[in-house]
Amino acid sequence: MLFPKDQERMAFRYRRSRVVYQCGYVLLALALWHFCSPYQIVLQSRSQPDPTSDTSIDIATDSPVQSADSIGEKVKDTIDKNYGPLEQSYLAQISTVNSGSVGANIYRSRDESIKLVYGITKSADWLDLVESQDDHGLMALTKATQRYLHGKQNPTDCSRQRYLILNKFPGDDAFGLGAIVQRIADYLSVALQTNSILLYAMDSSPGEHFISNSGGACGRSFDCIFERLSNCSSKDQRGIKSDVQSIFTGDGEVVDVDVEAYLAKNRWPVPPVFEEALKTVQEDVTGEMLKYWWRAQAAAYIMRFNSGASRRLREMRVGEVKQRGIRWDVNGEPKDVDMPFPMPEGTVSIHVRHGDKGSEMRLVPFNDYVVRAEKFVAENPLGTWKRAFLSTEDPNVIEQMKTMPRITPFSYSGSNSRWTWYWSDIPRLNTGPETQLKEFGNRTELTIKWLLQLTMAIECDIFVGTRGSGWNRLIDSLRCTWLASCKQPFLEVGFENDWAGYGP
Ligand SMILES: *[C@@H]1O[C@H](CO)[C@@H](O)[C@H](O)[C@H]1NC(C)=O
Ligand SMILES: *[C@@H]1O[C@H](CO)[C@@H](O)[C@H](O)[C@H]1NC(C)=O
Repeated sequence: MLFPKDQERMAFRYRRSRVVYQCGYVLLALALWHFCSPYQIVLQSRSQPDPTSDTSIDIATDSPVQSADSIGEKVKDTIDKNYGPLEQSYLAQISTVNSGSVGANIYRSRDESIKLVYGITKSADWLDLVESQDDHGLMALTKATQRYLHGKQNPTDCSRQRYLILNKFPGDDAFGLGAIVQRIADYLSVALQTNSILLYAMDSSPGEHFISNSGGACGRSFDCIFERLSNCSSKDQRGIKSDVQSIFTGDGEVVDVDVEAYLAKNRWPVPPVFEEALKTVQEDVTGEMLKYWWRAQAAAYIMRFNSGASRRLREMRVGEVKQRGIRWDVNGEPKDVDMPFPMPEGTVSIHVRHGDKGSEMRLVPFNDYVVRAEKFVAENPLGTWKRAFLSTEDPNVIEQMKTMPRITPFSYSGSNSRWTWYWSDIPRLNTGPETQLKEFGNRTELTIKWLLQLTMAIECDIFVGTRGSGWNRLIDSLRCTWLASCKQPFLEVGFENDWAGYGP
C-alpha cells in the first residue's frame, strides 16, 4: 500500500514514460541544433550525487517546498552534517570490515538462526542473531549498522538526551505495514542526523490500526509487538496534538529543523554517514540503492519482534495455526503432508500480492509466479527441490494452488516434477489490510499472523515476488539483515526495476 500522494506519483511515472519519448524528440532536435547551428548548447550533469539531497532521480517530481524564510519562521529544511563519537566509531569499524580483519569464526546455523527469531527473550538477542551470521550472506555493512542503530537508540544515560517524537501519520490506517515502517525509517534518519532518539507518541502512534488496545504501557504503538524503539522514554510522548506530526523535546540545544519540510524536500533521506560507509564498499553506489539499503536496515531495527510477539509467533508456527501441505506423488496422486519447522532447505517462498494493490500496480497472475519458480528449479537441480511456501491475501490463489501440481511439463528436476505446496490456515480476504483488520477481531493477533507469514517466507531459500509490493520489499529486507540469505536468488515477476523509485 502506498501513500495517497504516491498514487499521484505513480500516475506521474506512467505519464513520465510518455514524456521520455517526447524528450527523445526534443533531444534529437537539440542535437541537430547543436551540430547545425552557430550557437552552442551546454549540458551540465552532476557527477557527484549530493548525499543530503534528493538523489538525482525523479528530481522533476519534487514539489517545490516553501523555504523556511518565505513562511517567516526560523526553521531549516536542511540538516548539517555533524558526526559524533558513534559515527566516528562506525566509520572506523567499516574500514576494519573492509580490510577483512574481523568476522566471527563460529556462525549460527541456518536452522538455529530461524529458531532464534521464534525464541527471542530479550532485545540483546537481536544483535546476537545478526552478529552470528556469516557476513557474506548479509547485506553489506549490516553488523556494524545494526550495532550503530542500537547504540544511538539505547544510550547508557537517558537523562540528557534529545528526543524526536513521532505521531500517527494522517490517514495511515489506509497504509500497509511495509509503507508505515518505511515512513518511520525516514524519521529514524532525521533522529540519527540530529543526535536525537526516535520515540513513538503514545496517544496516537504510527500504524496503531495494527494494534488492539491492551491497556498496557505500550498503548497502541508498535512497541506492543516490536522491541521498544529505545530504552529511554519521555513524558512528552503523551499529549501531542493530533495535527502535529513530530516534535523535538528533551535536553541539548534546540534543533531548528522543520522535519516535515526536510522530508518533503529529501524524499529518501539517508544519513550521510551511511553513504560515506557504503561508498567504501562500492564507490559508485546509486542513490536508489542507498535508499533501499537504508530502508532495509531501518526495517531490521524497527521490526525486531519483542519476546511476547516472538512467543506468539512460535506458538502459531508449531501448532496453533494449522500449517498445511499438499504433495503430488510421482503418479500424480495428491496427499496431505505436514509442514516441517523450520522450512526444509531449498524451499521457494512465493508471495502473491493481490488485494487492493491493483489500484497502484499491475497485478501479476499466480501462474506467472509458478512458471518463474519452475524455470529456476529446473535450472538449479542440485540446490533446490520442488517445494514452496505460498503467502498471499488472496484466498483464490490458495484454492488455485491446491489444484495445481505443476504448470510447465518439465520432467527434469531434482525432485518429483510435481510441487509440494505449504501454506498457513489464516483468515484471508482479497482486500486491503484495514478491511481485514476490521473483519477478523483482535488486530494484534491478526498482525502477528501476518508477521508469521513474513517470517515463514524468510525461512525459505529462494524468493519469488515483485518488489512493487511493500510486503515483498520487507521479505527482501529481513532475509538480508536478520538471516544470511541475501545472496540467495530473488526472482522478480513484475518489472525488474520495481524496487526503484517507490515510496514517499
Ligand atoms: C539501554 O541499553 C543499553 C544497551 O543494552 C545499555 O547499555 C544501557 O545501560 C541501557 N540504558 C538504560 C538507561 O537502561
Ligand atoms: C489481543 O491479542 C493480544 C496479543 O495476543 C493480547 O495481548 C490481547 O490481550 C488481545 N486483546 C483482546 C481484547 O483480546
